[in-house]
Amino acid sequence: MAKFYHVLNYGCQMNESDAEHYAGQLKELDYTYTGDVRQADVVVVNTCCIRESAELKILGKIGELKHVKAQHPGQIICVTGCMAQKDGEALLKKYPQIDLLLGTSYVNSFKDVIRDYLEGHRKGVYTSLEVQSSEFEGQRVRESGFSAWVPIMYGCNNFCTYCIVPYVRGRERSRSIANILEEVRAAVAEGYTEITLLGQNVDSYGKDFLRNHEEEKLTSVTAAAGLISDEALRKEPFAALLRAVDQVPGVERIHFMSSHPRDMTEEVIKAVAEGTHLCEHFHVALQSGSDRILKAMNRGYTGERFLELIQMIRKYVPKASITTDIIVGFPGETEEDFAATCKLVEEAKFDSAFTFIYSKRSGTPAARMDDQVPEDVKHARLEALMQVQNNRSLCINRRLEGETLEVMAEGPTEKDPDTWSGRTRTGKLVLWPQQEAAEIRPGQLVQIKIESGQTWLLKGRRVR
Ligand code: 5AD
Ligand code: SF4
Repeated sequence: MAKFYHVLNYGCQMNESDAEHYAGQLKELDYTYTGDVRQADVVVVNTCCIRESAELKILGKIGELKHVKAQHPGQIICVTGCMAQKDGEALLKKYPQIDLLLGTSYVNSFKDVIRDYLEGHRKGVYTSLEVQSSEFEGQRVRESGFSAWVPIMYGCNNFCTYCIVPYVRGRERSRSIANILEEVRAAVAEGYTEITLLGQNVDSYGKDFLRNHEEEKLTSVTAAAGLISDEALRKEPFAALLRAVDQVPGVERIHFMSSHPRDMTEEVIKAVAEGTHLCEHFHVALQSGSDRILKAMNRGYTGERFLELIQMIRKYVPKASITTDIIVGFPGETEEDFAATCKLVEEAKFDSAFTFIYSKRSGTPAARMDDQVPEDVKHARLEALMQVQNNRSLCINRRLEGETLEVMAEGPTEKDPDTWSGRTRTGKLVLWPQQEAAEIRPGQLVQIKIESGQTWLLKGRRVR
């Protein structure tokens, strides 16, 4: 009898990528995807705990699953990811409908855990952060057909004082270049021409290998394949990796995220400038524009240093789009600190920004700091900052009017099947009228002449 699985994913791109791997492993165990959670024999809830708002949403969902399971005895409910890592046993106690809890380092061994469960039907909590290998095996179930996430490293060593990630995803572990290139090649063979390299801090890629005397994980294949020199790999592993992926036949576009302003180097920017398929888009998280707050956040740079980096990007890649993450209402943030953030945002001229209200994460140093900012003040600051950024985004996008841009088509919009959407190399959303569906397919590169630049998107018409 057919067995079905359903995956509910929450959180960042790394989580999406992990969810694709969970699905891949269930497929290997002969489960088939179902869009209906009620039909599923295995339900995976892949969780996020970066902010309290995410956690509340997820807990609500896990609560609902109790009723679903009541109608489907024997359904296996697996809670995976960051919240499972953080709360482990406590979640199981509170939500007895959960069968398996898997922390973040079990992504690559999910299949074995499910197999064990099927044999013994014992509930299990797997939250050791040490165990697993970071090499990828097996398959991922990707939905898009043309755009693939490829993680290059897991974990984070930075310990920014507001952030829970280092506690729930452990220390930085890179994947070997051989393993990454193998996945990129396999994805290309399946028609995936857009590759996004993922890591919490991509600029640290490979540094763990150099520290641990595991250089062969960087040098063995690439040097052998003549893609890149051993010396370059040893000197700046991430920049070298970018140059290597750029040479994989069939890859059209390469993106990477996230970069840390403290660690991004000139060599990485040069690699993008000199590369063919490396896209002109940099996501560098500013977090705050106040030096005092940056220090309290343990970010390792000043506002001035950040602007120097922006200038360097613009020098080598004048057409680059630059996006960022910003937190408002970090403990102790005064009106002056916030004004410094707004000023820096004006000066940096970001294409867009993800803005967040500081959320207290217990166990992190910032949660124990005095003078937490009141909720209403945080909300007001978020509104004000969004206004500043929206004005800038509109201004930048308006300047693109009249230009013809390369767009990777994604598909028809939900609202109107005769309107298609896609993305520029710089990551901007573009809409255009497309009546003849036969003349286009998702993943195709088309040329769109931009007629209207708006805050969140561009509109135009197809010229090729
Ligand atoms: N509160 C609010 N935002 C946070 N981020 C990380 N931790 C927190 C927190 N405790 C934001 C940062 C990061 C992005 C992924 O989420 O801006 O870059
Ligand atoms: Fe969190 Fe800082 Fe690591 Fe990003 S770099 S995941 S914000 S600790």
